[in-house]
Amino acid sequence: MKSFISQGVQILATGSAVPSVSLNNDQISKIVETSDDWIFTRTGIKERRLLTGNQQSVIDLATVASARALDKISMNPAQLDLIILATSSPNDLFGSASQVQFEIGAINAVAFDLTAACSGFVLGLVTAVQYLRTGSYSNALVIGADVLSKWVNWSDRTTCILFGDAAGAVILQSCSTIDNSILDFQLNTDGNYSNYLSIQYQIDDYPHPLLNLYQGSFKFISMNGKEVYKFAVSQVPLSILKCLNNLNMSVNDIDWLLLHQANERILKAVAEKLSISDNKIIANLGKYGNTSAASIPLALDEALANNKIANNDIIVIAGFGAGLTWGTIIIRWKSSQLK
Ligand code: UT7
Repeated sequence: MKSFISQGVQILATGSAVPSVSLNNDQISKIVETSDDWIFTRTGIKERRLLTGNQQSVIDLATVASARALDKISMNPAQLDLIILATSSPNDLFGSASQVQFEIGAINAVAFDLTAACSGFVLGLVTAVQYLRTGSYSNALVIGADVLSKWVNWSDRTTCILFGDAAGAVILQSCSTIDNSILDFQLNTDGNYSNYLSIQYQIDDYPHPLLNLYQGSFKFISMNGKEVYKFAVSQVPLSILKCLNNLNMSVNDIDWLLLHQANERILKAVAEKLSISDNKIIANLGKYGNTSAASIPLALDEALANNKIANNDIIVIAGFGAGLTWGTIIIRWKSSQLK
C-alpha cells in the first residue's frame, strides 16, 4: 500500500455455488473407519458437498458462482477487465480461467489461474486489487474454486473427512480512495514446510527408453494435520495483528473474523488468541467442510445473504494452507451499488 496508489477498491457483489450431492459423517464412516463423533469433535464438520459424476468440473462451479455475482448487480460480463481463478484443482493444467471467461461471456477480460491452495482466494484478491489500485483495470472478478474430492485418497481417513467442493466469487471495482474498502493486507510464504500439505508430482520408475526422460502423474493429497494445525494457530494471529498494526487499529475494531474454513477448533483458537468473542466468527464449515480456495468467498456470500454484515463493518479475512502460505486482508464493508 504505497504512495503510487491512486484508486480505492470496492466489493460490488459476491456469489457462490456448491454441488447438490452431500456426504455426511455417518455416510463417510461406511467408507473409512471413522465416526460422526470423531469428525465433529475434532473438526466441527457435519457434512460436505461433492462434485460427483463425470460431466462437471471446477469450471462449472466457478461459472455458476460468477454468474450469480454478476446477476446480483445486473452487470454486463463484457464490463469485466480481469478474471483471476484461484484453484489448485484445475481441469486443465494450462489454466481453467479462460474457460470460465468464455462460459460467462466476459469477452473483454484477461483471465488466468492462480495456484495457492487454501490461501488462493486471499492471494487472488490482493493480486486483483493491485491492478485496480493502479488504475490499470476498472472491474475484476476473483473466484476461489476447488474440487479437492477429486484429489483425496478416499481410503485415507486423516484427509478424506475434511474436504468438500465449492466455488465463491467476488466482483471488485475501482473507486475513489474515500470509498476504499480494502484497507490493508499482509502475506507470507514459508516453503521450508511445503511437505506438510501437498499434491506431489510422482515420477515414474523408468524413463523413456531413448530420451532418458521421466514422466509421471500427480499423487493424492498428503497432509501432516498436526503440524498444519500448529502452524495455523501460531501464525494466523500474528499476521492479523501485523495488519491491524499497519492500520493503527486494534482487535476491538474487528466486527467479523472470516478465516479459511479448515477446522472449527482453529477458528476458535485464533479468535481466543486475539481475544475476539466467538460470536464474531463467521463459520459455515459444518455444512461444507474445508473447500480450500472457495471457503472464504463461500462463507462471505452466505454471511451477506443472512444479513450478518452491516455497512462499515470491519471484516478481517485470513487464509492459510499449503505452501505454506498465509495472509490477512482487512476490509471495511461498503454496501455499494454498481456505478
Ligand atoms: O486447508 C488447509 C489447512 N488444513 C488444516 O488446517 C488441517 C489442520 N489439521 C487439523 O485440522 C487436524 O490436525 C485434523 C482434524 C486433521 C486431525 O485432528 P488431530 O486432533 O490433530 O488428530 P490426530 O491427527 O492427532 O489423530 C488423533 C488420533 C490418531 O489415533 P492415535 O494415533 O491417537 O491412536 C489418528 O489415527 O485419531 C486418529 N484418527 C482418526 N480417528 C477416527 C485420524 N483421523 C481419524 C478419523 N477418524 N477420521
